[in-house]
Parts: sequence; structure tokens; C-alpha cells
Amino acid sequence: MVKISMLIAIRPATLNEISAILRIEQQSRTASHWTIDQYTDLIANGIVLIAEQAEVICGFISAQAVAGEWEIENVVVAPEFLRQGIATRLVNEVIKRARRENASVIRLEVRESNQAARSLYEELHFRQEGRRFAYYSNPPEDALVYAMRL
Ligand SMILES: CC(C)(COP(=O)(O)OP(=O)(O)OC[C@H]1O[C@@H](n2cnc3c(N)ncnc32)[C@H](O)[C@@H]1OP(=O)(O)O)[C@@H](O)C(=O)NCCC(=O)NCCS
Repeated sequence: MVKISMLIAIRPATLNEISAILRIEQQSRTASHWTIDQYTDLIANGIVLIAEQAEVICGFISAQAVAGEWEIENVVVAPEFLRQGIATRLVNEVIKRARRENASVIRLEVRESNQAARSLYEELHFRQEGRRFAYYSNPPEDALVYAMRL
């Protein structure tokens, strides 16, 4: 069977797509929640990529780069498209772009209880490098810091 991830296109988001991005993000309890202004700034000055199939936005990833150090801020896939390899495609595209720009590292933080995201990053060979105690609120929880050295 062909996985849907083979059929999707990954491309930079446009400002017109912020409402679709917010809809996907707001359906997810474990995603990071950002404002319209923050997404506007990220599209202009950072990296926001969307996964799209037949004009339907299935998921997105956002990241920022500061002095060769990249940080993945969010990766979210719509519930009806989960476990189809879409997040893997999105993270791999960020890795490819970071390598192309000679980045030294990609980092991210994830809630300790977010097993789906942790498994995704571990499958992609991110390594756990640290812990930020009580980093999250509502509910309070530690963040695990994962990194990939490039
Ligand atoms: C984490 C998330 C982005 C994964 O998206 P996805 O498109 O379903 O992931 P993929 O299909 O690429 O999965 C790749 C691998 O990750 C792991 N994985 C993904 N979801 C998993 C789950 N629910 N439980 C355990 N492992 C999981 C598996 O190893 C999977 O490979 P497999 O399907 O061959 O077993 C998705 O669950 C999501 O949107 N979660 C809510 C938002 C969120 O918490 N984002 C992370 C913020 S840091």
C-alpha cells in the first residue's frame, strides 16, 4: 500500500495559510500554541513548512535559526492524517534545509509525556541532551531537550 506521505507536497507556508495552521494546531492538546502574530513573524523571518495533499493542509512544522543553531518550535499533523509518515517528511525537510545552510545543530523541546513526539524524534536519530525542570505549565511538566548534531 502507498503511504499518503509519498503523495504529499512539502512547501513553505504563506501568510494566507495561518488560519489553516492555527486550526490544526488548536485541535492538538500537546502542540505548542502560538498567536497569529507569532506565525506571521515566523513565516517572514523563520521557517514554516506545510504538508499538503490535493490542496488540503495535513500538517506543518515551524523552526527558527539563530547563528547556525536551528530550533524546531512545533510539528503538528491533523488527526485524520496521523501515522502516515507526514511528520517524518516534515522533520526530514527541516534537517535537509539546515544541512544545506551549514547549521551545526537542530534542537527541540518536548513534554516528557509526549510519547508520540519523542518516538518520532528518536526514530529520526535525535538524541536526548537535557531536561528543563517544570518548563511547561497547564499542566506543569519537565521538557526534554533533544538535539541532532549536523
Ligand atoms: C507527534 C506527531 C507530529 C507525529 O506525527 P505523524 O505524522 O503521525 O508521525 P509519523 O507518521 O511520521 O510517525 C513516525 C514515527 O513516530 C512514532 N510515532 C508517531 N506517532 C506515535 C504514537 N502515537 N505513539 C507512538 N509512536 C508514534 C512511530 O515510531 C512512527 O513510526 P511508525 O508509524 O512507522 O511506527 C503527531 O502525533 C502530532 O501532531 N501530535 C500532536 C502535536 C505534538 O505533540 N507535536 C509535538 C510538539 S513538540
